[in-house]
Amino acid sequence: MIITDMEDFTDSFVKDVDNGLNDIPKHIPCVYFYDYTGSILFEKICQLPEYYLTQAETEILESQSKRIITTLPDNVMLVELGSGSSVKTRLIIEALLSKSDKLSYSPIDISRKMLHESSISLLERYDNLEIISVAATYEEGLRKLTIFNEQAKLILWLGSSIGNFRPAEASRFLGNIAATMKPEDCLLIGFDLVKEKRILEKAYNDSQNVTAEFNLNLLSRINRELGGEFDLGRFTHQALYNEEERRIEMYLISNCEQNVYISAMNRSYHFGINEMVHTENSCKYSPEAIGKIANRAGLQILEQWFDSRHYFNLTLFKPDNR
Ligand code: AVJ
Repeated sequence: MIITDMEDFTDSFVKDVDNGLNDIPKHIPCVYFYDYTGSILFEKICQLPEYYLTQAETEILESQSKRIITTLPDNVMLVELGSGSSVKTRLIIEALLSKSDKLSYSPIDISRKMLHESSISLLERYDNLEIISVAATYEEGLRKLTIFNEQAKLILWLGSSIGNFRPAEASRFLGNIAATMKPEDCLLIGFDLVKEKRILEKAYNDSQNVTAEFNLNLLSRINRELGGEFDLGRFTHQALYNEEERRIEMYLISNCEQNVYISAMNRSYHFGINEMVHTENSCKYSPEAIGKIANRAGLQILEQWFDSRHYFNLTLFKPDNR
């Protein structure tokens, strides 16, 4: 196992928090959710009964992994964006290992510690697995992996993490990936589908308040890493479904008027009563919207699979021949 490291993140964290808290409305980029604490909280979210996304995607992978990999050339290298615990990936790894006697897997994740732990546990479980982990953002990680360009790849992007991008950004990002893909490479993406508002809002406002804890961890992280003085009791988690934009929007709402000092910036930020800090978009898709994004990105849909409730879909793409 090789872990290649990313640049220090503190500088961009300071800059992004400062920009976001000076903006109107206030916002903090969702990429900062995933320090080790946040990654563990996210794993807890995936086990919540209300968070149907993981159940639905697992159902598809359990029944279709074998089928999904039949389209692929032999000896593909597996690359994964935002691998986290790699639990669902095991289903693909097992399918690939049943077809070939060894496999290279390259998980890309922003949490170095999460990456290390999940890689160790995969290596313990699978003898014929080689792991090249990359602790980096998606872009940096993919750039580093261009050294393996001669090998055909299956790129995984599970969990509907694509939902963090607005549709135009998603097309652009996928377009960049498509441009680096060779004709035999494939891309498998998990998309959360448009559904009833009630089901969506329950998934992001769970009864055990794990999602609230995950959202508030942004403020704890600012306290830990930037010397912030946020009182977590003075902010409330909220997730709302914006039907027009087809996305869940997460906010931290200031319960009172307050000033919060952050030592890395050596200044305070003002929050009005009920002022909202936007922390995440989680876009939901229709099959038509997926087709549109693919088209704009220069990708061609090879096949799609749905769970039994049609809550979620996995789409397999290849670069189109333009
Ligand atoms: C990891 C971006 C797919 O949007 O559902 C879960 C993150 N946020 N609960 C999602 C998340 C709140 C998750 N993604």
